[in-house]
Amino acid sequence: MLRKLFFDFQYRFARPPWDTGITPPEVVAFVANNSTHGRALDLGCGTGTNSIYLASQGYQVVGVDFSSKAIASARFKAKREQLAIDFHVADVTHLEFLNEPFDYVLDIGCLHAIDETGRTRYAEHIARLTQSGSVFMLYAFSPRPANEPRHLIQFRNVGITPDQVEKLFASDFKLERIEHGGDRDERKSAWYWFVRQSNSRPVR
Ligand SMILES: C[S@@+](CC[C@H](N)C(=O)[O-])C[C@H]1O[C@@H](n2cnc3c(N)ncnc32)[C@H](O)[C@@H]1O
Repeated sequence: MLRKLFFDFQYRFARPPWDTGITPPEVVAFVANNSTHGRALDLGCGTGTNSIYLASQGYQVVGVDFSSKAIASARFKAKREQLAIDFHVADVTHLEFLNEPFDYVLDIGCLHAIDETGRTRYAEHIARLTQSGSVFMLYAFSPRPANEPRHLIQFRNVGITPDQVEKLFASDFKLERIEHGGDRDERKSAWYWFVRQSNSRPVR
């Protein structure tokens, strides 16, 4: 799969621009404002920056990424910090190996790179792996305008609009808050705060 190769290549041979080692203030604020630090799932966890932060704050963390290189770095860093984190090399659209519900699900920059079929499966897994009151925080890019010139290695179809995000999770989650922004090159992006509603579809 081309996209997996792209991410693996970035972790092996480059310094990925997103791998800053800094947990975003939105996540820090969420943790500070919530006294229950239960089970957390970090989807597309990369080299584990946010998984490690959550574990250091008392969460029991599972991190998933399909780049084996990223997960190897994440395991190394967690061990160095003496934190027990359950890291998996896996595709976030195939989370059948996870069962217990999570109180907090975090996705920084992963969902927007997944195709439409995969996004549907992703949403089904998140619904299955959360319970009423669980919080799902998502950071995602919007698609680039069709007429915008692009860099050679940029994928054209990366990005998800706020409407698409809301619709994708509408049957199981309430969108509590959305904050629009732009990243370094002013690409449109947004933070989404979802809260899981009581069971709205049959458990598969
Ligand atoms: C932009 S990076 C962000 C990494 C991390 N969340 C962070 O903030 O540092 C996106 C990550 O999602 C992972 N990823 C993308 N699609 C994935 C998929 N379908 N399954 C698992 N991981 C995926 C990539 O390997 C990459 O590590």
